[in-house]
Amino acid sequence: MEYNRPMLREDALKGEVIIVTGGGSGLGKAMTTYFLELGAKVVISSRNMDKLLTTAKALEEKTGGRILPVACDVRHYDQVENMLAAAVKEFGKVDALVNNAAGNFISPTERLSANAFDTIIDIVLKGTKNCTLALGKHWIDVKQKRATVLNIVTTYAWTGSAYVVPSATAKAGVLALTRSLAVEWAKYGIRTNAIAPGPFPTEGAWDRLMPGNLKDEFDMRKKIPLGRLGEHQELANLAAYLISDFSAFINGEVVTIDGGEWLKGAGEFNMLEKIPDEMWDMLEMMIRSKKGK
Ligand code: HXC
Ligand code: NAP
Repeated sequence: MEYNRPMLREDALKGEVIIVTGGGSGLGKAMTTYFLELGAKVVISSRNMDKLLTTAKALEEKTGGRILPVACDVRHYDQVENMLAAAVKEFGKVDALVNNAAGNFISPTERLSANAFDTIIDIVLKGTKNCTLALGKHWIDVKQKRATVLNIVTTYAWTGSAYVVPSATAKAGVLALTRSLAVEWAKYGIRTNAIAPGPFPTEGAWDRLMPGNLKDEFDMRKKIPLGRLGEHQELANLAAYLISDFSAFINGEVVTIDGGEWLKGAGEFNMLEKIPDEMWDMLEMMIRSKKGK
């Protein structure tokens, strides 16, 4: 069995209606593709309607599924309400929301204008808040029995990260939102979970985080104990599981999918992997010789 093959059975999401923000590209597109293959109807949204239309056409042809593309800048609550209304008008209901839209770029923090910092916070934190609040109010209002919110964060949501400080700040907020609402809205049948991906190459992320020859200079695979980058189907498999009823008892969880990357950076003595096997005899002898001294 290959790790990058579709995981769930074919009808696992049959009849489900899922909104994927930022669904026209990158990981949002990969998740959308798999949700369609599993029988879901998907609303994809972003700021760029041409991109959404192109993606919708390609994925409908590829999967035979149904997509509704809706232009929506998640920073604006009225646009989010319009997206929700369009989804309900087209498909009659919404079962799940994937907060995947994001903005990010590398920069020393002191070079950022106040507006640059705000822009990232607004897309990631305010955008996630806008979509979650609108959907949550709707689900509570229509007394929907079960619904799911899935937030795409990053592993630096809890560690922080230099040079992407607005993104780290915003993702940390999304993490707090995830865990808080998991408890508060469980009584309405709304589960709230998150995925924290390590590096999964996409054009959107790599153009802004690894521009020019940075990707050759900083080979991300070297930071990852498993020695490779993530593949889109792996993330789509996890997302589909967390959206599906198979994960019905999982609530408030943040699943890391990074090949062990962040723990490698965190463990005090992880650098000792550089020590060759033959040196361990000598080191052990040195340590043992200190007994009783
Ligand atoms: C400094 C910058 C800048 C840069 C923009 N700005 N780029 N400042 N360095 N490289 C400043 C602008 O000058 C402006 O401030 C403010 O930011 C807003 O810029 P706009 O271009 O007007 O904003 P907008 O058109 O809304 O575009 C948003 C964006 C853009 C975030 C800047 O990159 C975008 O559209 N991104 C969407 C997709 C994306 O980012 N994907 C990557 C996700 S990867 P002033 O003061 O001049 O007005 C991810 C996690 C990856 O999130 C983790 C990997 C392991
Ligand atoms: P991406 O292709 O650039 O995806 C970001 C999407 O967000 C785009 O489709 C973009 O579409 C949309 N978007 C941006 N601003 C928006 C706004 N104001 N309103 C609505 N939509 C907006 O990058 P990606 O790598 O697939 O990232 C997807 C998610 O995974 C993000 O949450 C990111 O933080 C997370 N992530 C990615 C990685 C990785 O290695 N790739 C790692 C960790 C976490 P428009 O430009 O058309 O609006």
